[in-house]
Amino acid sequence: MRIAVYPGSFDPPTLGHLDIIRRAAAQFDRVIVCVMFNSEKSGLFTPAERVDLLRRSLAEQEGVDNVTVDRDSGLLADYARRVGASCLVKGLRRVADFESEMQMADINRSLAPGLDTLFLTARPELAFLSSTIVKELARYRVDLKGAVADAIERDVQARVGERLAQTQI
Ligand code: PNS
Repeated sequence: MRIAVYPGSFDPPTLGHLDIIRRAAAQFDRVIVCVMFNSEKSGLFTPAERVDLLRRSLAEQEGVDNVTVDRDSGLLADYARRVGASCLVKGLRRVADFESEMQMADINRSLAPGLDTLFLTARPELAFLSSTIVKELARYRVDLKGAVADAIERDVQARVGERLAQTQI
């Protein structure tokens, strides 16, 4: 059984993430999408909410029957070992992503020898998308169709709206 973990912040999950998940699902017997803690980012949604957003986004997708969603607050390498994963999956949008992702792949392999990282390059039409861009678009009430799954569009607009109301100057 080939198990892969696709880790990330997913705050919120974008169509770019969903494309990577679908493609990883075609390569592995099982894919676990894991919401993890990135110490360099502050969150719009709680980890539990992100799990829910991912599950609802995936409910619209085909070819993801072998995908499950989880969350963990520890080290990715420990998590991968615990669930029996042989591989991590990461998406690369552009060359700028490569340097830090390469470093993370090396760190994870040193923490869990044998743990590989498979990089999937973003489809060009989705390469501009990131959770940060989605939040920025929502801030200016730009339609999020084509950026996040229809099922979660309203949740993202609503949460960004709430945050704006709290911080309005
Ligand atoms: O979507 P992101 O923010 O690029 O994902 C980064 C993430 C969450 C995968 C990364 O920060 C991570 O692996 N966090 C878990 C803690 C960990 O294992 N850190 C690396 C070793 S120091």
